[in-house]
Amino acid sequence: MTAARRILLVDDAEIEFLTLGRMLRRIPGPDRSLDWVASYGEASAAIAADAHDFYFVDIRLGPESGLDLIRVARAHGILKPMIVLTGFGSDAVDRAATAAGANEYLVKGEFDHVLLERTMRYAERNAQALAELDRRLIETEATARQLKHETERRAIAETELSEVLRRVVNDQEAERRRIARELHDSLGQSLTLLQLGLDAVTRAAAAGGDIAGDVASMKGLTVRISEELHRLAWEIRPTVLDDLGLQEAIRQIPAEWQPRSGLHFDLHLALERRLPAAIESALYRVLQEAITNIVRHAAARRIGIILEEDHDGARLIVEDDGRGMVIDEAPPAGSPSRHLGLLGMRERLSLVGGTLEIESMLDRGTTLFARVPL
Ligand SMILES: Nc1ncnc2c1ncn2[C@@H]1O[C@H](COP(=O)(O)OP(=O)(O)OP(=O)(O)O)[C@@H](O)[C@H]1O
Ligand SMILES: [Mg+2]
Repeated sequence: MTAARRILLVDDAEIEFLTLGRMLRRIPGPDRSLDWVASYGEASAAIAADAHDFYFVDIRLGPESGLDLIRVARAHGILKPMIVLTGFGSDAVDRAATAAGANEYLVKGEFDHVLLERTMRYAERNAQALAELDRRLIETEATARQLKHETERRAIAETELSEVLRRVVNDQEAERRRIARELHDSLGQSLTLLQLGLDAVTRAAAAGGDIAGDVASMKGLTVRISEELHRLAWEIRPTVLDDLGLQEAIRQIPAEWQPRSGLHFDLHLALERRLPAAIESALYRVLQEAITNIVRHAAARRIGIILEEDHDGARLIVEDDGRGMVIDEAPPAGSPSRHLGLLGMRERLSLVGGTLEIESMLDRGTTLFARVPL
């Protein structure tokens, strides 16, 4: 049984209104109301108001076309069932009506209330199916858009990742060059002096002279060489990180950084055990980059470092009282960021299953939360 309750007839002849009304009353089922408009203009307004759940549209509306009316309604997203009424039926009328978006057509004078009911039911089913198709199409389009967005996001992430890797390799090269230069400049020089000293001592000893002064100065040289070696080794990788762990390595950081940066360090180190080596390394590198960023960008006076462990895992918090920053999570499409420090931190942490969160307020400082599950 047709579900239509509020029905609108668009027809320029009142007799059609009376006929259709009579037939509808003969169809059993719920109460139905039939409204009637006679002109194209009134019909457009009534359809736009979308107050009816079923439409009959005469194919000819004076000088205007009922099919145009339907076309416009469909273009505006009105998906309600619409039946075209025509003076005579033909294949051509059928095709034209379907093309305009009508769901069925009826030939005036050639239907009774039984055919009317059945045609209305078919039109309703047809309209529902089309509306469902429409809905799925919109969904599919949305999914396609989302996929496209996701693909673009991934492409950017991949570009950034390869940029980070490239940078890591470059950094390693630069680091090797620096170490080679330092070895050459400082240790090389000291060792040459040592050699000259040894030659002199050999000569003096052969001549039976006094060598005590030379030996003492050479001893001074070896002390310097040993200090140099120690400093270089610390910079390359603090052995304390391997020997005594992350917590001890962090404890030594203020002594390294304070004189160079003037920053005041507050440490709160509460680990009660060593962490797996990969996690200690990752957190240490994150901390190094965080401190470098604070020195370079924050104009801070104090820096707080918290290292602790709870049931969720280990947590490293680095906070400064500097100028803060604007956090934009996603770089604009197509433009991988040129700043790789924060990305590198995230990358290192994700390799050990960890995450990085940043909180920052302009002129109130920045806090980094690095978390790693254990
Ligand atoms: N502690 C901080 N306080 C204020 N601004 C910061 C802080 N840390 C980072 N920033 C801002 O975030 C930006 C991104 O930092 P990131 O470490 O990713 O890149 P970078 O330091 O500029 O360059 P690099 O790739 O050499 O590390 C910085 O340019 C800076 O503007
Ligand atoms: Mg940086």
